[in-house]
Amino acid sequence: MRSLFTIVLVAAAMAACARTQQEAPVAEARPIAAAAGAPATAPAQRRQPVSPMKQDTVRKQAIAELMAALQGRENEPAGVVFKNVKLHKSMPAREFLTMMDEQYGRGLGMTCTNCHLDNKDYASDERKNKVIARQMERMQRDIDAKYIAKVKELDDPRPKTTCVMCHRGVTHMPNTMDVPEVAPPQRKRG
Ligand code: HEC
Ligand code: HEC
Repeated sequence: MRSLFTIVLVAAAMAACARTQQEAPVAEARPIAAAAGAPATAPAQRRQPVSPMKQDTVRKQAIAELMAALQGRENEPAGVVFKNVKLHKSMPAREFLTMMDEQYGRGLGMTCTNCHLDNKDYASDERKNKVIARQMERMQRDIDAKYIAKVKELDDPRPKTTCVMCHRGVTHMPNTMDVPEVAPPQRKRG
């Protein structure tokens, strides 16, 4: 009889403890007046990351707007049609925008506004990521010219580093790798 009483006591204490643990964050997240007796609402969610497909739609929309504004100047150099291009001056504007989409955007898992202002002032250098991106571009050119170009044994006729080669769709890349279940994709040479 006595041991049953103890078990009941312990069970009650554990249940109370579990409830406190569950309820504590909710009580903290809501105003005190609403906390008593009110149905538990989920605490404010962190902003969910946008899906890669949604990001792609957003980027394609931005590119379409810019292409429409270019009106026949798509093949003129980016340095001529845009205001503040420092590293890709001679690249055709169309190719430049494709690079923004595929390398800078998809390659890093970013939309245009991760590097550019929300007001479509693409020339502004205010966003930190844009400033970083230029340094990454310079780093790549350095790697290509100082190191990759000098590895004469490579059989790729024009070996070059790209944003995707390091970033693979993320800003903070893992530095370990699970054992693959299928062979990883490989770029065609040439
Ligand atoms: C990872 C950062 C990054 C992302 C993401 C990015 N950009 Fe850029 N963007 C840059 C950098 C850096 C430059 C300047 C390049 C240079 O100086 O050669 C630039 C320049 C531009 C310019 C030229 C603006 C001007 O007038 O000088 C346009 C237009 C542009 N980006 C459009 C886009 C669009 C559209 C997207 C999305 C599809 C995008 N960018 C995504 C970094 C980024
Ligand atoms: C040789 C590998 C390499 C290449 C190539 C490379 N990056 Fe990076 N990048 C890095 C590393 C490493 C970091 C730091 C990652 C971290 O903080 O976890 C980084 C960080 C960044 C960041 C900051 C992300 C953040 O949220 O802090 C941006 C923006 C960026 N890279 C843009 C680019 C662009 C654009 C290109 C192509 C022009 C590029 N990177 C090519 C290695 C590379």
